[in-house]
Amino acid sequence: MSVERKYISKSVEETQQIAFNFVKEHPELKVYALHGNLGAGKTALTAGIAAALDIHQPIKSPTFTIINEYAGGGLPLYHIDLYRLNSPDEALMLGFEDYLESNGVTVVEWPERASELFPEDTVHITLTPLDDPNHREIRLFFYS
Ligand SMILES: Nc1ncnc2c1ncn2[C@@H]1O[C@H](COP(=O)(O)OP(=O)(O)O)[C@@H](O)[C@H]1O
Ligand SMILES: [Mg+2]
Repeated sequence: MSVERKYISKSVEETQQIAFNFVKEHPELKVYALHGNLGAGKTALTAGIAAALDIHQPIKSPTFTIINEYAGGGLPLYHIDLYRLNSPDEALMLGFEDYLESNGVTVVEWPERASELFPEDTVHITLTPLDDPNHREIRLFFYS
């Protein structure tokens, strides 16, 4: 059954709490696609996912590295930014499918660059800025 949830976040901390609570509620879901423009809060939200996995290092944008791996929690976290890729083929060359199939949690910014590679049980999260610069609409879409 597909489920859609909508939240209004009024701070970075609230955004991270929403992500934290979701990961705790759905530990079986391992792939996250984060949608939203530059500055929407995708990287900020990823820190909430990391915290739920007991990873407490600072989460930095993987824009230049493309993939940041975080060990030390219960499961590894793979934080991937596809922004600089030109085609799904380039994602495949980076071993993208191996991350998706691994036992770790994979969080992907700019998933539109390789949308056909995502499994059906991906959690899609869309962040949309609102008039107040600290507010975001957060929509979650997943199968349960
Ligand atoms: N409610 C909010 N949720 C997430 N980020 C917010 C919020 N309000 C303000 N921000 C700010 O928006 C910026 C989001 O940056 P970042 O997470 O790097 O975006 P993205 O990864 O989508 O490009 C940060 O500077 C953060 O402090
Ligand atoms: Mg980012």
